[in-house]
Amino acid sequence: MVVPAALSSWRSLALLAVLLIGGGATFIYSRDKPAESTRRPDAARLMNDLMSGKAQVGGPFTLEDQFGKRRSLADFRGKPVLLYFGYTFCPDVCPTDLAAMAQAIRTLDAAGKVLQPIFITLDPERDTREILRNYAVAFHPRFVALRGSEGEVRRVATAYKVYFEKVRPPGSSVYLIDHMAFVFLLDRDGQYIAFFPPGTTAERMAVMVGEALAHAG
Ligand code: NI
Repeated sequence: MVVPAALSSWRSLALLAVLLIGGGATFIYSRDKPAESTRRPDAARLMNDLMSGKAQVGGPFTLEDQFGKRRSLADFRGKPVLLYFGYTFCPDVCPTDLAAMAQAIRTLDAAGKVLQPIFITLDPERDTREILRNYAVAFHPRFVALRGSEGEVRRVATAYKVYFEKVRPPGSSVYLIDHMAFVFLLDRDGQYIAFFPPGTTAERMAVMVGEALAHAG
């Protein structure tokens, strides 16, 4: 799978961080040029935020679903949630991760653990309600696909430490969205529990979700 450099930056960084932290090594990251976006935080701090606990990641949100209905995170209380931020024009990483998410949901269904998959588009300009409706069910019939204004989406993404920006490859007439691609696991009360880095297999996700929920009670 070939990913343009601009697109792959967050993913490779996240994977590197997880691999290094997982391996017990010290994660050191230095940038040799100034960040082109002030929204981009220091990578080590981001990993800390994600790994250190519930208080700093996530929070409630209300957006519009693929049927035009306002949906709040609280509407899903009672079910653990798998949450992903992406966009339907994403050439490869989003569909790969969403397929893994959907397969993990099916595996967990079979084990009697019913989770709610939620997709939030980072590209509300192009991802209309109709596009989201078709996209979501292609992965899993239970998928809820949410959109909002640019400001609403930015606010929710920021709460989950999902940094994103529009990028236009040289010579291209269309933009892509460089975005962080983590799958978030929320407990039955909508509280953040854990994240899975891009490329996590469905099998591994299902096992880890099962374990995390067993601990969460
Ligand atoms: Ni993507």
